[in-house]
Amino acid sequence: MGHLFKVAGSTLALAANLAIVSTSHAVEPISPITAPTNIHSEKAELGKKLFFDPRLSRSGFISCNSCHNLSMGGADNLPTSIGDHWQQGPINSPTVLNASLNVAQFWDGRAADLKEQAAGPIANPGEMASNHTLAVSTIASIPGYRQAFNEVFGTESVTIDTITDAIAEFEKTLKTPNAPFDLWLKGNEQALSQQAVEGYGLFKASGCTACHNGEAVGGSSFQKFGILAPYATDNPAEGRIAVTGNQADRFSFKVPTLRNVELTYPYFHDGGAATLSEAVDIMGKLQLGRHFSEQENAAIVAFLKSLTGDQPSFGLPALPPSGPDTPRPKPFSQGADTGMAH
Ligand code: HEC
Ligand code: HEC
Repeated sequence: MGHLFKVAGSTLALAANLAIVSTSHAVEPISPITAPTNIHSEKAELGKKLFFDPRLSRSGFISCNSCHNLSMGGADNLPTSIGDHWQQGPINSPTVLNASLNVAQFWDGRAADLKEQAAGPIANPGEMASNHTLAVSTIASIPGYRQAFNEVFGTESVTIDTITDAIAEFEKTLKTPNAPFDLWLKGNEQALSQQAVEGYGLFKASGCTACHNGEAVGGSSFQKFGILAPYATDNPAEGRIAVTGNQADRFSFKVPTLRNVELTYPYFHDGGAATLSEAVDIMGKLQLGRHFSEQENAAIVAFLKSLTGDQPSFGLPALPPSGPDTPRPKPFSQGADTGMAH
């Protein structure tokens, strides 16, 4: 199936200009990751520091990177995340890689964009368990941050708005170009194995691209999970209905990006599938009524693994030291907020 499109693409290119024999796969439902644009680099640098700074949490121990580990595909590889007081969270941590491409943030899309999203975990009792007043006063008490905020925002007065603005700017840089699949899309036939090309053909022919398409291979719509048969889980999350109140949205979730999916196991909102092979099997059966053979499953998995792009690569940010007025970390035993207020 992959070759059908390929041939059509080449023929068009030939017809248009005989001098250019293009083998690029221009009409595919998936497009290559493009470089981030319009990044304010000083703001992104500040956001990088904040992303790695555990002082945004009440315990002084948990940073964004704890659950969105940039050495692990921007996720935590746990079924559901662990937050303040070692609490087991209610839902799987999605990757922050390429999250700027999402139509909205969170599995149920309750935050419109990255900036709005970043305010959530800081004050979530089950995640970083701080509150915006404490987080702001902590950051504002650190002389190095006051200086950095002044350089970026023209004022030393730190607010939750500027904190989340900077974090979101950093997150916009977290795109992962140059996946083997993208190189193949751009015409490098050597970039994919025959098995992966076959897997891509199956991925298209069986209808996966109805939901997993575009630059992020997902992230652009909310879809019911369990169209042909219900998904068996103990997880109480009901998806999009939590935002819209619309019965039709019960068990509708944001279609996850499949970029870097090889790295972001376990899969699904409950972390219920440990391997890609298992996830593909479940998707085939529940979303499309397809029972893939072992060989077909392996081919699709080979294709999915070709979606791993260049991972973020930079020096670890050096965080400015606390000042005399910086609130002390509230260790494990103090103040027992419980519950997961998502
Ligand atoms: C304790 C673990 C934990 C911490 C700490 C944490 N997150 Fe998350 N993050 C999650 C979980 C779990 C979700 C999914 C929640 C949901 O959808 O209901 C999530 C969702 C997200 C999303 C949405 C991605 C998507 O595809 O919808 C982004 C972006 C994100 N977090 C960024 C951040 C940033 C920035 C910070 C630091 C300010 C942070 N997270 C701190 C666990 C964590
Ligand atoms: C009708 C829309 C739809 C179709 C068709 C579809 N998916 Fe999905 N896919 C989803 C949704 C929604 C989720 C998230 C489910 C959840 O965890 O709640 C998902 C999740 C996944 C995941 C797990 C990603 C992660 O990070 O947790 C993989 C892998 C996946 N799909 C692959 C496929 C493959 C392969 C096909 C074709 C056989 C396919 N999907 C067809 C909507 C779809």
